[in-house]
Amino acid sequence: MSDLIQLGAPNARPRQPREEELNLRFSQDAISELTTIATHYPDQKSAILPGLWIAQREYGGYLSGEAIAEVAFRLGRSYAEVEGVATFYSMYNTAHEVGTHMIEVCTCLSCQVCGAYPIAEYLKKKLGVEFGETTPDGVFTLHEVECLNACDRAPLIQVGDQYYGPVDEGFLDNLLDQLRETEGSTVAKLAHEIVQVHLGEAESLWREWKPELTGTYYEKVSTMATAPEPTLAAPSAPVPVTLETEVAPPVSMVVEEPTPELDPEPEPPAKGRIVVDDSA
Ligand code: FES
Repeated sequence: MSDLIQLGAPNARPRQPREEELNLRFSQDAISELTTIATHYPDQKSAILPGLWIAQREYGGYLSGEAIAEVAFRLGRSYAEVEGVATFYSMYNTAHEVGTHMIEVCTCLSCQVCGAYPIAEYLKKKLGVEFGETTPDGVFTLHEVECLNACDRAPLIQVGDQYYGPVDEGFLDNLLDQLRETEGSTVAKLAHEIVQVHLGEAESLWREWKPELTGTYYEKVSTMATAPEPTLAAPSAPVPVTLETEVAPPVSMVVEEPTPELDPEPEPPAKGRIVVDDSA
């Protein structure tokens, strides 16, 4: 696998895997799904995420180096580019092989307060594994996860595409017994469900399951998907601009002459007094 990554020359980019280097395992259905999904995007790079979900299903729940190389080959990308995407997201299983059923225990705040750690300890003891490990019979893998966005059902666990909560020890005993008898991989089933979402099949399933939500987010999304492209209005003819030629008459200012002050009327002489006019 290492020869798929060429890092020697400064300008060399890791190349796309060649068919003769690979043992291709995608089924015909998987190839059709990837071809359809790739048409949803302007370039093949954008189809890496759904391509990895297809690979996770086709390769039994674990994205081995071969699985990543097959996605890179089918999308015309380099191995390093696809590997970078696969290892970035925790929902892709790249660290180790997983069992038929992945039990994911939420230990985030709400679940923790409602007893997630005792639940996790009970599962560890019952299965004989720690977080990140798979039981020797390959049936169960136990993982610790962050909030699964269903805090009202705490303490919550996820198995494949199903949520269970609130769970207790009695519920877990029954669930583990049922899962041991379940045909097929719940890890692969989750990957399949997500591929169907990318294909657009899940929209109608959702409407059947939750018809009361029709008209909300899901309605808007489908309306947006089918809405015609907005057309730009043709530019209108320029509006002629006429300059005002008539000049408004100047504002005349009226200067008011100050009113001359009149001498105040002389006071009449007070009775009993002699007034001498010495101005002459
Ligand atoms: S905290 Fe567990 S689902 Fe949110």
